[in-house]
Amino acid sequence: MCPYMKTIDGFDAHRSHFLLTSLLIGQLKRSVHARIVVVSSLAHNFGWIRFHDLHSQGSYNSGLAYCQSKLANVLFTRELARRLKGTNVTVNSVHPGTVNSDLTRHSTLMTIFFTVFSTFLKTPREGAQTSIYCAVAEELHSISGKHFSDCAPAFVAPQGRSEETARRLWDISCELLGIEWN
Ligand SMILES: *[C@@H]1O[C@H](CO)[C@@H](O)[C@H](O)[C@H]1NC(C)=O
Repeated sequence: MCPYMKTIDGFDAHRSHFLLTSLLIGQLKRSVHARIVVVSSLAHNFGWIRFHDLHSQGSYNSGLAYCQSKLANVLFTRELARRLKGTNVTVNSVHPGTVNSDLTRHSTLMTIFFTVFSTFLKTPREGAQTSIYCAVAEELHSISGKHFSDCAPAFVAPQGRSEETARRLWDISCELLGIEWN
């Protein structure tokens, strides 16, 4: 939910989860067991992948870009889980809740909304719980490719369950970043 920004490489600033994971994956696979937790959001429900304009150069709406990036997180989790089968590395995505954080710093309207409804929002400490749960809970030992909210399995929107979209996004991401990922 930021104003339009690009990285120095000219990317819309949402490719980060993908690149960071690709840089760490070798190390993670060499670990005895490793878990990747992708912080997504309920907002993925309202997103769709605009393949014709992934960098939002044609038009940019910060709310829609946010939803798209959160959907991309879910699709990334799905495809990565598929690729990690047979390794001891798992990956799951989480909806942390609506957390009273500085997420709204670029929007006056959202800041007012968050202030008015602050008693209904999670504190950052509460918002961290599902991520921590996915990182350490014994029962999730071999669970991968799932989405969690309030420390329980959560609904994934149909557009977040499409293997075809997940693969297409994956391939384009590799191409854009100039990396091979086997
Ligand atoms: C996964 O971990 C188990 C031990 O918990 C080990 O025996 C096995 O070789 C590991 N598999 C891979 C692919 O690293």
